[in-house]
This record gives sequence, structure tokens and C-alpha cells, in this order.
Amino acid sequence: MANELTAPKTIHGMTPKQIVSELDKYIIGQDKAKRSVAVALRNRYRRNLLSDEMREEITPKNILMMGPTGVGKTEIARRLAKLMDAPFIKVEATKFTEVGYVGRDVESIIRDLMEASMRVTKQKHMDEKYAVAKDLAEEKIIEAIIPGSKKRPAPGNSNPFSFIMGGGQATYNRTTEKIDDKAAHEDSQTELARSQVREQLKNGLLEEQYVEIDVAEQPKDNNLDVSQGGSISLGSIFGDAMPKRYKRKNMKVKDARKVLIEQEAQNLIDMDQVTSEALENCEQNGIVFIDEIDKIASGSGYRGGVDVSREGVQRDILPIVEGSVVNTKYGPVKTDHILFIGAGAFHVSKPTDLIPELQGRFPIRVELEPLSRHDFVRILTEPDNALLKQHKALLETEGVSLSFTDEAVEEIASMAALMNEQTENIGARRLHTIMERLLEEYSYQLPDVENKNIVIDAEYVRNKFSEAIRADDIDRFIL
Ligand SMILES: Nc1ncnc2c1ncn2[C@@H]1O[C@H](COP(=O)(O)OP(=O)(O)OP(=O)(O)O)[C@@H](O)[C@H]1O
Ligand SMILES: [Mg+2]
Repeated sequence: MANELTAPKTIHGMTPKQIVSELDKYIIGQDKAKRSVAVALRNRYRRNLLSDEMREEITPKNILMMGPTGVGKTEIARRLAKLMDAPFIKVEATKFTEVGYVGRDVESIIRDLMEASMRVTKQKHMDEKYAVAKDLAEEKIIEAIIPGSKKRPAPGNSNPFSFIMGGGQATYNRTTEKIDDKAAHEDSQTELARSQVREQLKNGLLEEQYVEIDVAEQPKDNNLDVSQGGSISLGSIFGDAMPKRYKRKNMKVKDARKVLIEQEAQNLIDMDQVTSEALENCEQNGIVFIDEIDKIASGSGYRGGVDVSREGVQRDILPIVEGSVVNTKYGPVKTDHILFIGAGAFHVSKPTDLIPELQGRFPIRVELEPLSRHDFVRILTEPDNALLKQHKALLETEGVSLSFTDEAVEEIASMAALMNEQTENIGARRLHTIMERLLEEYSYQLPDVENKNIVIDAEYVRNKFSEAIRADDIDRFIL
């Protein structure tokens, strides 16, 4: 749910420097790539401030990120996705096939982007309604606890909240002669009880109590498998058009509130408006990240499960990148202004192995650098989600404190660099494999260890890997 204070700062409106510093929290080095991405994003924002005429003329400068495996290409996209308030999707070029073949057709990229746009646009609208929705939800909960005259439980039906109403079931006794008086009396009683409940809710006293509320049923997701990898959800096609069905559910006040707020906010938004804004948002601000684009270049030596022409896939992608209209269930989407970011290792094929028209559509090229031993030290320790922090946190759940000496960190980085050099260079992924190996014994033994204070030093690292390195050396000689 939106909250001014806790909501992450979103990319829209961030300056290039701010975007880069946000990426710096997770990705070490690769400054050139971060800068290009940041500038491209800021240019979307700048363009949005121009007149319609001018805006039409300015098409995005698509980016091609090149660099060895495991150096942060996909990670940059992943981080952008988290920051994005713009419609964003990441696809893998190898998943697509030429029209007519088994597999996903490239137009589904735009259909998925439009789905992403619906999500962010709808969320934006919902965010504006939460304040009102919260009040409505609170009233619904009160209504559920102290039902109004129509829904008043029959005498004898035990109401778990009757204690709040003072006289227990007595208030429901309708056998008295002066029914009118009685009703008026009951109404004021109800009001009184409700204001008490309201107060108690405000003070968080009823959070664990159970209430019965009406919950809108999610449309059944009858997935219809169209083909391998491609599926259409019937639920989502008809979902918005079908009248809502409600189901009574018994849940705790604290859970009921969450459900009701979402439900009320949902009822308050105008879906027609959301849809038309989402179409605009998709066309003007959409971003598609095409990963593994080098794998569809000729000469890449890559063969998927089915032998489809890579050039065919490129030809299919071309009109989408160049600008065309794709029909989606929400309406036609023009792709002229969607920003495309391609990424690939390009260690076998070159960008020039792509068909010329497609090459020309990715005018900005950035190279990501191979990672050094020094980078590894930083990757292990600095990012907010740094590997060492992750492993520490995991062991903490077992009541064990894990720490690494500086020398141990240096040693791990050296091992990673050495193994990358001696065997296959898999970039920072090597750190993951090393860390697993390093801690596997502890991970297995925990929580049954005496020592709750584990310190990993350089000695431990060296011992752990002395055999591995030697084995690799042998491999090298045999090969
Ligand atoms: N520069 C970096 N800073 C921090 N972590 C990194 C960096 N580069 C890679 N990593 C980590 O290494 C792993 C692999 O990185 P990533 O998925 O970005 O590789 P890639 O460049 O896309 O490689 P490939 O060409 O094989 O797809 C990720 O878990 C990521 O967190
Ligand atoms: Mg990748």
C-alpha cells in the first residue's frame, strides 16, 4: 500500500545522478552502463515535458549493453525493474521464435508490457484512493462486528462481540410490547456500541478478533495453454467484464482490513480511465529489456531446442523496435516510443552479426568491464544485498554469528579471480559458488554446533580450497 514516507523513491523524476547512485547500492563498477541507462531514462522524462508535436519527433535511443558473462548486465535490468514506476519488462531473446513456429511470438512482448502498464497505472490510481478506502473498510468492519438492524443476528445466535453491546442477547428480545420504542432504543444502543467499537479499533484492541466479511471472489484462472510457453488466462480476459461474486469469509480484523481496503480502493477507481491511461503510459514510457540478444545473432553458434532461424526472429523483432502497432486486449499499442535495452555477452557473435536494420536501431553501445579481484572484494561486502551480509543473516536465524576477517575476504576474492582465470570465467557468479563451498559444512551442521561465534579467516579459506585449486590445475593439464 502506498505511503508517502515508506514508498521507495521512484525513477520518474530522478536525475541521472540519483539513478546511478541508486544502482550503485547494488552494482559495483560498470559506471558507463549505469550512466547510459540513467541518461536514457531521464530523456524520457525530459521528453514528457515537451509539446505534443515536439514529443512525437523524439524517438528513444535504444541501448545495447555488451560484456562478458556474470558482470552485471542482467542485474542492472533487475534493479531498474524494482525502481521503475514506468511499465517495464525483461524478456529473453532466446524464448522467441518466428511467427508460425512453436514458441512465443514477439508481439507477446508488447502484450506483456501492456499488462505491466495496467498494473502500474492501476496501482497509481489505487494509491490515490487508499485514504478513502481505509475509512470505508473501517466502517465495514464495524458493521460486521455490530450489524445494523437488517443484519442483526437472530436471538440465540451467539455474537462473539455481544459483550461490547452490554446487555448480551437481551437487546435482541423483540417480545416486548412497545416495539417502536424498542427499535429506537436499539438503534441508539447500536450507535453507542459502534462508537465503542470504533474507539477500540482505533486503539488496536480488536486486531486478533474474528469477523465475517464479504470478499470478492477472484476470477478462476483457467489457463488455456495455447502452445509451449504461451498461455492465455481466461480469468484475466473476462475477469474485468464479469460481475463480481462475493463470498463470506471469517478472518481476523487485521487481515480483514487489508482485504477490505484493497477491495474498496478497487471499487473506487474507474477502470476505463485506468485502461486509457495505461495505453498511453505503455506507449510513452514503456521499457523493454531484451536479454541474451547476442544469442539470436547469426554466428552465435546457439541452437535452441527447435531449429528456428535466428535471423527470422530478428526480422520479427525489427518492426516492434522500429515502431509498429500491436493489438492487445486493451487496445492497439504503438511501439514507436518504447525504449529498448538489449544485452548480451557477445563473446561468440558480434553486434555486427545482427541484421543491419536491427543494429541501427540500437545506436548507443556500452561495454561492461570484466570484474577484477578488487571488484570482487567490493561485491562481497558493499552492496545492500552483499553476499556476506546474506550469509550472515541466514546464520543469524540459527542464533549463530558469522564474521569474516578482512584477509579472508581478500582471499575469497583472490580465489574467485584465480578460478575464473584457470577455468571458465563466470564473473561474479563465481563468488556464489565459492561462498556455498566455503560454508557448506557449517550450513549442514547448524544449529547443532557448540561454537555460536564463527569467524572465517584466510587460513580457513585457503584450507577449504587448496584441494579444489589443485584439482582444477590437474584438469588444466589433462586438457
Ligand atoms: N558489478 C556487479 N556488482 C555486484 N554484483 C554483481 C555484479 N556483476 C554481477 N554481479 C552478481 O553476479 C550475478 C550474475 O550477474 P548478472 O546476472 O548480471 O550477469 P550477466 O552480466 O547478465 O551475465 P550473462 O551474460 O551470463 O547473462 C548476480 O547475482 C549479480 O548479483
Ligand atoms: Mg544475463
